[in-house]
Amino acid sequence: MSKVYNVAVVGATGAVGQTTLRLLAERNFPVAGLRLFASQRSVGKKVTFKGEEIAMEAVGPEAFKGVEIAFFSAGSEQSREYAPQAVRAGAVVVDKSSAFRMEPDVPLVVPEINAAALAGHKGIVACPNCTSIVTVMPLKPLHDAGKLRRVIATSYQAVSGAGVNGIADLEQEMRAWARGEPITPSYFDHQIAFNVIPHIDKFGEDGYTGEETKLINEVRKILEAPSLPISPTTVRVPVFTAHSIAVNAETESKVTVEQARKAFEAFPGLTVWDDPAQNRYPMPVEVEGKDECYVGRIREDFSTANALNFWVVGDQLRKGAALNGIQIAEELIKRNLM
Ligand code: A2P
Repeated sequence: MSKVYNVAVVGATGAVGQTTLRLLAERNFPVAGLRLFASQRSVGKKVTFKGEEIAMEAVGPEAFKGVEIAFFSAGSEQSREYAPQAVRAGAVVVDKSSAFRMEPDVPLVVPEINAAALAGHKGIVACPNCTSIVTVMPLKPLHDAGKLRRVIATSYQAVSGAGVNGIADLEQEMRAWARGEPITPSYFDHQIAFNVIPHIDKFGEDGYTGEETKLINEVRKILEAPSLPISPTTVRVPVFTAHSIAVNAETESKVTVEQARKAFEAFPGLTVWDDPAQNRYPMPVEVEGKDECYVGRIREDFSTANALNFWVVGDQLRKGAALNGIQIAEELIKRNLM
C-alpha cells in the first residue's frame, strides 16, 4: 500500500482553506489523519471530510505533533508564528501567505515551472501570491520561446482573493443595492459592487501597492530572472472568483502569435481559448471551479518590436492558491522530499 500522511490545514474555515479541503478529497490526496485549525472563534465548528466529521481546533503548543504536512492559509502573521512550530514538530509546511516567499532559502514554487527548486527546502515551501501564479503560468513558455525582455501586467482581481470577508462584502452590497438601500462597505476601503478599486494591499513609499510589489518580486524569483523589468497595476473588481490579467510581454527574440499559441497549448496547466470569430475568450464566470489557467486574446503588439498582448484567467482559489499548494505537496511526495 502506498504511504499515507497526517495532514493539517491551518485556516480551514477560510476561502483558501475550504478549497484546500475540497481538493484534498477531489484529488484523493493520501490522507491518513486530518487536523483542522482556525481561530479561537471557530473552535468546535465541524466540517465533513470524506464522510467524517472533523472539529476545528485552535493552534496550541502540541498542535502539530505527528503532523507530516501542513497547509497554511491563515495569513502572514499566523504563518510567521506557527509555521516554525510545525517544522520543529517534524512537518513540512506549504505556506500560502507572503511571510516567507522572498527568503532566499525558501523555495517559491509553481510546480509546472520550477518544481526542481523544492530540492533545497528546509521545512517551509512558499506558494506564490494568486496573481503572481496566474500571470507567471503563460509567461514561462513565452520566456522559454523568446526570453522575456519586459512585462506589463494589469490585473482584474476577484473579491474571494481577499478571503471570506471580501465575498461577504460584495454579497451584502449587491443585496443592499437590490433593496434600494444605501451601500456601506464593511471590509474593502470603498464600495466594490458596481465599482473597481485600483488598490490591493498597502501602498509603499514608491506609490506601488503591496500586491504590485509581490507580483514583480515573485515572478522574478519563480522565473529566475532577477532583473526582469515588470510594470504592474493590480485592481479589485466585483467578481466573486477567478483573477484575470491583461499582459503585454516583450521578448528578446520574436515570438509570433502562432508560436505563442503553440507554446501556451503545449504547457501543462494552460489551455488556450482564443477564437474571436466565435467570441471565445476566457472569462471568470467560465473559469471559476477549473484547475487550469486559460489564455486568449493573443495578438501582436504593433506599437513596438517583439511584443505580444494576451489575456489570462485563473481560478485564484484553485490554481492561484489551494491547488498549487496541493500540487507542491504531491511533488514533495513524488520526489521523496518529505
Ligand atoms: P476563523 O474563521 O476562525 O477566523 P480568509 O482568508 O478567508 O479570511 O480566512 C482566514 C483563515 O485564517 C480563517 O480560517 C481564519 O479562521 C483563520 N485564522 C485567523 N486567525 C487565526 C489564528 N490566530 N489561528 C488560526 N487560524 C486563524
